[in-house]
Amino acid sequence: MISKLDHLAWLGVDAIWLSPTFPSPNVDWGYDVSNYLEVHPDFGTLADLDALIAAARAREIEVWLDLVPNHTSDRHPWFTDRPEYYIWSDRIPNDWRSVFTGGTAWQYDARRHRYYLHQFTPRQPDLDWWNPDVRAEFEHILRFWFERGIAGFRIDVAHGLIKDAELRDGERFMREQPESHEIFRQWQSIAQEYDPKPTLMGETYVPLVRTFPFYAHLDLVQNFDFVRSRLDAAALRSIVERVEAKIPAKRDPLWFGSNHDHSRLATRWARGDERRARAALFLLLTLRGSAIIYQGDELALTDGEVPADRITDIAEPPRDPERTPLPWTRSGEEWQAPWLPLADTTRNVEEQRADPGSTLNYVRDLVARRRSFAGAPYRSLPSPRGVWAYARGDVTCAVNLTGKRVRHGGRVLEPWDAVID
Ligand code: GLC
Repeated sequence: MISKLDHLAWLGVDAIWLSPTFPSPNVDWGYDVSNYLEVHPDFGTLADLDALIAAARAREIEVWLDLVPNHTSDRHPWFTDRPEYYIWSDRIPNDWRSVFTGGTAWQYDARRHRYYLHQFTPRQPDLDWWNPDVRAEFEHILRFWFERGIAGFRIDVAHGLIKDAELRDGERFMREQPESHEIFRQWQSIAQEYDPKPTLMGETYVPLVRTFPFYAHLDLVQNFDFVRSRLDAAALRSIVERVEAKIPAKRDPLWFGSNHDHSRLATRWARGDERRARAALFLLLTLRGSAIIYQGDELALTDGEVPADRITDIAEPPRDPERTPLPWTRSGEEWQAPWLPLADTTRNVEEQRADPGSTLNYVRDLVARRRSFAGAPYRSLPSPRGVWAYARGDVTCAVNLTGKRVRHGGRVLEPWDAVID
C-alpha cells in the first residue's frame, strides 16, 4: 500500500478508508474482529500501519480504519472472558433474524447454556451496548487509534448498535434505537480532543428519511437509497434534493456508487459501458459534498467473475465479484496468489494513466476541478427529461443520463455525456 501512495496522490485522493485491518478469523472478511488494538498479520504489523499513516500524511492523505463495534468475532477473548459484554437470553426471546442465515438471530451456547444474539453469522456475537464497560472499551479503542494518527473511522452497522432493552418482537427493535446517538455524541467529543479532529462516518443502512437523525453526531452519513437507485436522472435527483433540503447546515452530503457489499457501479449502473460509468462518476464528483470512490471505480472496473470453487464470502449471493483485486497492469503480475481471482485486466491503472482519454484521467481531472467549487451550494436547474442539470454556485453542471443525443442549454449532449460550464 505504501508503494501505491504516489499513485493515490497523483489521483488527488484526500483519504483512504481501509476495510477492516484487525486480526480476524475472516469468517466475514475482517468484519469479525478478534483484537481491536492490533493489525492482522496478513497485512503486517502495527509498525507497518504507523509507517503507512506517516507516508500517507507526507502526501496529505488521511488513513481511516473500519471500526466494527456492533459485534466481535466469537474468537475475541471477550466472548470467553467477558460474557456480560454480549446479549444473552435463556430462550429464543423474539423473532429477530440473522442477516446472513435468514434464520433466528439467536444461537445456543453450550458453554453458558444460554442463547446469544448475532445479527450476522453465529460467529459474530452482538455486543451489549447498554453495558457501560463495552462503551469504555471502545472509547479506549478510539483513543488508541487517534493517538496513532488514524484520521477517521467508518463505523460498521452504525444503525444497529443498540437493541431494544426488552428484546421485543419486530426487526425494528433490533436496530435504529435512538440511544445509539448518545454513543456517537460521546465518540464525537473524544474526536474533538484531537487536532485535526478525526472524521466519523456511519454505515447507516436505513431508508433515506431515517438517515437524518444520524447527522446529529456523525460527520458523514452513508446514503444507501442513492447507491441502490437506478442510474436515472429523475430518481437520483429526487434523492439529492431530499438530502439537500434536510441536511443540517453544519454537515456535508456524501455520495458513493459502489462498495464491498454492492455490485460495482461499472456493472450495476453502467452494465460495463464506460460512458455510463463516467456519467455516474461525474455525479459523484460534482454533487456537493464528499465522494467515496471504491477501488476500481476510477477505472470503470466491473465486477469480477469468481468461479464457485473460489467463493470466499458467506453472504448469499456472495459479494466476492465486487471484491476482486484492482488490476495495476494488463499482465496482472503484481498480484501473487490473491484471495480472489484477478478478473478482466483490460481496464488497468498502468494503461489508463498513460492515456489522457481514459476514465482514470477523467476522474483525476474531475477531482482537481471540483476543488474550485467545493462548498458551493447545490441548486437543481430545469432540464429536458433524462438530463440532470444543476448549479454549484457560479458553475453549471449537466449530465445526459440517456443513450440518446439531447439538446440542452444551446448545446448538444452526446449519450451519457456531461459538461461543466
Ligand atoms: C457491514 C459490512 C459488511 C459486513 C457486515 C457485518 O454491513 O459492510 O461487509 O458483512 O457489516 O459486519
